[in-house]
Parts: sequence; C-alpha cells; structure tokens
Amino acid sequence: MERFYITTAIDYVNGAPHIGHAYEKIYTDILFRHFKKRAAETFFLTGTDEHGIKIQKTAKANGITPKELCDANAAQFMEAWKLLDIEYSKFIRTTDDYHEKIVQDIFEKLLEQGDIYKHSYTGLYCSGCETFLNPKDLDENGNCPIHGKKPEEVSEENYFFKLTKYKDKIIEHIKKNPGFILPEFRANEVLNQLENIEDISVSRAKTNVEWGIEVKSDPSQVIYVWIDALSNYITALGYDVNGNHDENFKKFWPVNFHIIGKDILKFHSIYWIAILMALGVELPKGIYAHGWITIDQNKMSKSIGNVIAPKTIIEDYELKNPDALRYFMATAASNGKDGNYSDVDFKEKVNADLANNMGNLLNRTLNMLVKYFDGEIKPEFVEDNELNSKAEKVLKDVCAFFDKCDIASAANCIISLVDEANKYVNDTAPWALAKNEQMTECGKVLYNVLNLMAKITLLIEPYCPTIAKMMADQLRVDINLKYSELMPNMISSGKLISKDEITPVFLRLDSEFATNKK
Ligand code: MSP
Repeated sequence: MERFYITTAIDYVNGAPHIGHAYEKIYTDILFRHFKKRAAETFFLTGTDEHGIKIQKTAKANGITPKELCDANAAQFMEAWKLLDIEYSKFIRTTDDYHEKIVQDIFEKLLEQGDIYKHSYTGLYCSGCETFLNPKDLDENGNCPIHGKKPEEVSEENYFFKLTKYKDKIIEHIKKNPGFILPEFRANEVLNQLENIEDISVSRAKTNVEWGIEVKSDPSQVIYVWIDALSNYITALGYDVNGNHDENFKKFWPVNFHIIGKDILKFHSIYWIAILMALGVELPKGIYAHGWITIDQNKMSKSIGNVIAPKTIIEDYELKNPDALRYFMATAASNGKDGNYSDVDFKEKVNADLANNMGNLLNRTLNMLVKYFDGEIKPEFVEDNELNSKAEKVLKDVCAFFDKCDIASAANCIISLVDEANKYVNDTAPWALAKNEQMTECGKVLYNVLNLMAKITLLIEPYCPTIAKMMADQLRVDINLKYSELMPNMISSGKLISKDEITPVFLRLDSEFATNKK
C-alpha cells in the first residue's frame, strides 16, 4: 500500500470532549497506527466543527463571542487528544481562514453549475442535529429522536442543494461497492434513507444565524454547517475548485476511511457523496460508522449528569499512560455496534488482557531467561515452525479485520495469540525442563515465546503504543518495523537482557480505585 488517508468526524465545540468523542478518536488512531505499518505514506485528519446556531447560542449565554468559545473549547479537544496519544497529522478548525475560503469557492462553484438554487422554505430545524428534520422522522411526541427536543419551525429563503439529482448515482455506487459503507449491515439503512431524500437546505439567513461562513455572492446568507463541515476532509488537504490542488490533496485523496458515528452516516454516505459527485471529485474508498458508547448502559447526557471526560478516567486510575483506556475502548463494542463503559468492566478487561495475560507472560519468560541462561539467547535454540505459522495466520487475520475497520475483532485475534503463547508455556513447562536439565529444550521454549511476544508487540502497538514500546525495548525489537518486515525469528542470538532491565509493562489496576471513586 502506497498511501493511506483517514479522518474522524470533527467535533462540535459547544462543550468539552467526553469519552464518546474520545472513542472515535482512539478508534481512528488505532486504525492509523496499524496502517502506518503497512503504507509508505500516511495522513490522519481530525479537528473541530465550529459554526452554527448552537455555538452562537452557547457563546451568547456565556457572555463571550463565538470565536472565544471556539478557541477555548477547541483547545480542550486538542489537549484531550494529546493525553490519549492521538497521533493526528493535522487538526483542522472550520474557522481556519483557508478552510472558510475554500468552502466559499465550493459553494460558488455549485451555485454557478446550478447544483445550488434559492428557495423559500418552512421547515423544522433541530439545532442539536444542525439540520432540518422531516416530520416523519420525529418521535411520537413530535421530538427529534436523537436529542429528544421539539424542533423549531423556521421560515426562510435559503439556498438548496439538488440532492435528488444524485440519488440514482449514489444508489448505484453503494450497490456496486459492497465495502463502501462499513460495517456492511449499515448499507441497507442508507439505501432505505435514499428512498425518501429531498433537496437539502445548505444556507441560513444571516438574520437567524450569524455564526457561519458567508455566501460570497450573497452576504445575507451563511453557509449552513454540513456543507462547511463535510468539506473539511478536502480543504485540509488543499483542494482547489479550479484544480490547482496542493500536494497533499494530490497525494492522499481519495480518503481510505472516513470514521464517523452511526448518527451522522446519512450526512456522509448521501450528502457528502452527492457534493463530491457535483464537484467532480473522486469518492471516498470507505466510510465506517461506529456505534455509540453508553455509561453503565445509559446514554451520556448532561441532564443525567453521567458525562465522563477521558481525563477523569486517566486521573482516577492514576494511569501513567492512556494505553489501558485505549485498549478498553477499542474492545468495548463489537464491530459497529454500541458499547458500554463501566468502571468494573474497564478494570476487569485490562487486568485480564494486559496485566495477567500479556504483561505477565513477557515478564515471566524474561525472568526465566535470566534465571536459566543469564539472559542469553543461545544459537542452539531453534524455532518452532508450528508456532510461527500460527503467528503468520494471526497477522493475516488481523490485517483482514483492519481492512474492514473491525478493531475489536482484530484485538481479540491478537489476544488469542497471547493465549496460544501462554498455553505453549504451560504445556511445555520450561521450569520443569530446567529442573530435568533439558536446557536446550528449555531455551527453545523461551526463545519461541519471546519470538511470539515480539510479533504481539508490533500487533498491539496501535492499541497500546507506550506498553508496546516498553515490550519492544526489552525484546530489542524495533517498534517502527512494518508488518512486511516481520520475520519468523525476531529475537537475535546473544545477550538479550539482564535482571535489572526487566520491568513490568502493565500493572493491574488496583481494585480500590474503582470502588473509591466518587
Ligand atoms: N460536527 C458533527 C460532525 C461533522 S463531520 C464532518 C458532529 N459533531 S459531534 O460533536 O456531535 O459528534 C462528533 C462525533 O462524535 C460523531 O461521529 C459522533 O457520532 C461521535 N459521538 C458523539 N457522542 C458519542 C458517543 N456517546 N459514543 C460514540 N461516539 C459519539 O456530529
């Protein structure tokens, strides 16, 4: 693979980041780090979505300007992603000058082409969704099904985008490309939504919404958030309506995966695709919709008071690095389904997989190597072909899961290799072999386990970068190796480690933390 480009949704900045936002950024970061080990050049885009009525209202309520609100909250998002080791290549803010300018150009181009037209309209606007809702989408109380609030009736003259013009082409594209919408079970949902689509409003009257990008040829209107927000995926790379694109656009577009939540799949798989078709820009290769994270089985909400910031978990458990949280989040939901966070599950999962299973195996194997061989790998320790082919198969399976963005199944697959290694140690009992003075046999077992651990290290790195680095250092393996460089034998002959160099890579989370939490 030559080039790989991945994006997250850009978050609204009318509040602070919570673990739902964090879930998506961790999810995408894991995919990014995995594909970094397969592609020559990679790009990871994330950012914040800063325009719209919600921001305008929140800023007003706080007595500050929208820009001040955006600056303060965007900084919180960046800080949170730093804390979680999210290794993005670029952070875009929709208030960035270059973005605003390109969005204006896009709008004008679509207007000139006749894909956008002016139209008087009365509709039901949900500011939570930043979209007009169709009366038949409302729940039995006439509320928005996602935000539980009554939409506001709005009458305006707006610009509309001719979504209906692209309906048949989009249906055809989805049907012809089974991997385009992932997980595949979501494709039918989109096809159903396509049945009822109408042209969409893409601007708001400035008298109603001020905080947005002005329509260049009609400053009485601002560009309504979705056309602004969705365009970030190409403006960040330096897309130009006249074809004078920046190098990054030429290099990285089309995107490999847009990673988004299931609630905004319609905007990405219908609106965005139609906009790209209208612009004559190549379509994304894939769109992956993840599920939602609940807290103790409840939807996160300010009114319930159960919103958790990622920082709170890191602080409560006194985590030195974010790996445990990253790993838990990655495995909290099965492919595209909703997942749940609870303190008990968090503790149990990371204690079982990272401490008891993976960390402990490395620790005890290295300790045996020191005890029986003074930490040295002897040339007579031979490899076990059966274990090597198991590891090879796991690598293949993990890559196949990643090709479908299924990081939870990939993690299970990696842990199954750790289980395999543990089973091998227990079955072969190197301590008993040493006791019987079958030293070559004993050394062979340790050598093979360490070889497996080296592969596990590189496979687990996208989930747990800090832990993996500690493992790689003890195994003298280069953490930056590509997957194509994995060899049957990763561990070299000679002195590997001495007693004082062995450090546990992950300590069990103390049960007190969870129970003492406020
Ligand atoms: N600004 C739009 C996206 C524009 S993308 C061009 C938006 N912002 S958001 O802040 O409401 O949501 C950002 C992302 O976080 C979305 O993909 C959304 O699905 C995700 N999540 C928000 N809450 C979530 C959970 N509780 N769980 C998992 N993901 C959640 O939509």
